Amino acid sequence: MAKRKRSRGATLERVPVSDPPVRPGLVGPRRRVPGHIERPPYARTGEPGPSAASSVRSAAEIQAMRRAGQMAAEVLLFAGKLVAPGVTTDSIDAEVHEEIVRRGAYPSPLNYRGYPKSVCTSINEVICHGIPDSRALADGDIVNIDVTVFLDGVHGDTSTTFEVGEVDEHSRLLVRETRTAMYLGIAAVKDGAPVNAIGRAIESHARTHRLGVVREFIGHGVGTEFHSGLQIPHYYERNHNTPLATGMTFTIEPMLTLGSPDLYMWDDQWTAVTADQRRSAQFEHTLLCLDYGAEILTRTPAGEGAAEVFSGD
Ligand code: MF3
Ligand code: CO
Ligand code: CO
Repeated sequence: MAKRKRSRGATLERVPVSDPPVRPGLVGPRRRVPGHIERPPYARTGEPGPSAASSVRSAAEIQAMRRAGQMAAEVLLFAGKLVAPGVTTDSIDAEVHEEIVRRGAYPSPLNYRGYPKSVCTSINEVICHGIPDSRALADGDIVNIDVTVFLDGVHGDTSTTFEVGEVDEHSRLLVRETRTAMYLGIAAVKDGAPVNAIGRAIESHARTHRLGVVREFIGHGVGTEFHSGLQIPHYYERNHNTPLATGMTFTIEPMLTLGSPDLYMWDDQWTAVTADQRRSAQFEHTLLCLDYGAEILTRTPAGEGAAEVFSGD
């Protein structure tokens, strides 16, 4: 019998599609925020409001961002402890919402451009902006929980992909290498470095592991606004060479895929899913650019973050 030609390494054909596919569930009503909590401009109208003039933050804003970032990190650790088979994403939304308002902050996603919930939960082939609903997490799922809090006039934005129970080896590799890609992007940050050094680092790591890089969603300036004008692609773009500067605050939040990074949007106009139904993972930190590197704002005072605490490796 003739020997069949064997391929080297992981090939696309051998990566299973996510089965069964994630389907929309029931979305409950908007949750309430107590009246004494300071709200961002869009809380009433859904409209983000005017843009800030500068992407460099004042000393006072930086202090506020350290507090907001720290709180977002603590809430994400709290959220990670909720992840288990049988738990609905709506119940995660309820608990995260309560935890944020208990701490005196506003859950930034709530009514941002009309978004209906307080956190994003993106399962398996969902790339980002999954809306918490009646679907229960299942053993073997991966789920990104993306927490943003608004505290003292600024936002802190961070996310981690969690493994639910026992996860297949492709998904474990995807999650691990997406985390590494984020940290390689962070390592490219310093005063004077071009923005595209970040995407170059992330994309080249993704290529090494034959993972796709999502292009439609990118990192963003964050501060007094949830999303400011500063754009941080996770792929290399030659012309995107604006220099980073000390005092800029922005996110790095790569979404990597086991198959093609091409995507489509559900009818809800939020949920982005891979077109080939293969899985996607994402990690996110809010950073402060310094002369010599980046300060990670979305960590606890002890330097902890969900990305490490819940790492399966
Ligand atoms: N936290 C997301 C980000 O990383 C944004 C969510 S916008 C929402 O940029 F409206 F979907 F919440
Ligand atoms: Co973000
Ligand atoms: Co986010």
